[in-house]
Amino acid sequence: MVEHALKKGTARLPEEKGRRGMAGIKRGVVVGAKSPALERLLEEVRPVVTVTEWHRENNAAYSSFSANPPSLVFVDLSEETKGRLILITRIVKTIRHVPVVALGQNAQVDLLLQAFRAGAHDYLALPPVAGEGSAMCRRLLDPSFRREEEGKVFSVFSVKGGQGITTIAVNLADRLRKLTTRETLLFDMNFFAGDCETRLKIPSLYTPFDLQRDMKRIDRDLLLSVVPKHDRGFRLLACPDEISDPEQIQGEEVGRMMEILAEYMDFTVIDLPHDLSTRTMAALRASDRILLVLQQNLASLKSARKALRFFREMGEKEEKVELVLNRYEKRNDLSVDDMADVLGRPLFHLLRNDYRASTESINLSVPLDATDRKGPLNRDMGVLAEKCAGFQEPRRSQRSLLRSLMDLPRKGRS
Ligand SMILES: Nc1ncnc2c1ncn2[C@@H]1O[C@H](COP(=O)(O)OP(=O)(O)OP(=O)(O)O)[C@@H](O)[C@H]1O
Ligand SMILES: [Mg+2]
Repeated sequence: MVEHALKKGTARLPEEKGRRGMAGIKRGVVVGAKSPALERLLEEVRPVVTVTEWHRENNAAYSSFSANPPSLVFVDLSEETKGRLILITRIVKTIRHVPVVALGQNAQVDLLLQAFRAGAHDYLALPPVAGEGSAMCRRLLDPSFRREEEGKVFSVFSVKGGQGITTIAVNLADRLRKLTTRETLLFDMNFFAGDCETRLKIPSLYTPFDLQRDMKRIDRDLLLSVVPKHDRGFRLLACPDEISDPEQIQGEEVGRMMEILAEYMDFTVIDLPHDLSTRTMAALRASDRILLVLQQNLASLKSARKALRFFREMGEKEEKVELVLNRYEKRNDLSVDDMADVLGRPLFHLLRNDYRASTESINLSVPLDATDRKGPLNRDMGVLAEKCAGFQEPRRSQRSLLRSLMDLPRKGRS
């Protein structure tokens, strides 16, 4: 009878009742058609996750997950691909923290990419290589996975002014969104007089002061309905046009805002002011990565060295802070190697000097990708986004793309 129900599409396996209450047993659900390769996979992963439900109909599968979220979901993309990709997006957006493994016949790069963009946490090609499935499930079910699944927060910062913080923050948000199609937010924390909204020509209809007021009741739907979206797809949380009083927002409140944003946004990029207020400190602390920006001159180098010392004193882990050299020129008396020597660490990324492109993008109030798509600075911005997302555009050989995706399965990991 069970076999019959499985064939029909929706069934619970007999051991479920007894097992669900047992500590330590992870419950898996499959959405897809039965096949010998898939059954072999489920047999292999059984010691890690036991499949107790099997669906073929997407809506029924979704209703069942929302009523009783499993520990892990396998979604077969080899049939009904479009609908299943939508299902993956629905699951990851609404039933957070449940890892979703997309399954495909063979390692098709296009499918793998679509699965990743839909939000799948990993992709497994069928038939599976022995041991690969159970290793993947073990990793996804590890308690640390939950923490890794929070959205990633990048702070763009320098102690010195005029280093290119806003330029980098705006374009990083734009390129992260373009690369991943995930929910991406640019947060202008220059509460006194930020300029992101003029740089992007989006009216600040919802500001951090509004978020401060709404913090107790905000959820994902409300946040997405109130924070304006740029035509390019990313969102902007920026201050009102008129000069605002930053002191109205306390450091702890920034900490709470960061928790909310990390929960509901896949990527948050913060344009930080050049101060060390409790607000800035709270944002720095809440960031997964701090992009410390400097330029190729002694004053900037000194200021970056001071900032690094300060981060050490703050107790920030070294690997959290990445050095980004802006306005890089090959012909400069101060070489990249010299700078790395003085700072005691390699530079994470170089952004070439391109005043024309940068000024044009500011004057037209659009990101570089919309004005100078093939220009060197825009290309450098694209690579910075790839390094931050841990995900690469498919321009290299399929083999290296596959490898990079398999090694770096989901958001923000690199
Ligand atoms: N890679 C680059 N090449 C050439 N010019 C650049 C580059 N990056 C930024 N600029 C220019 O440097 C100037 C300052 O940039 P931006 O406003 O982004 O810096 P900022 O650190 O946010 O400044 P502020 O301290 O005023 O907030 C702008 O005129 C911008 O066009
Ligand atoms: Mg700025």
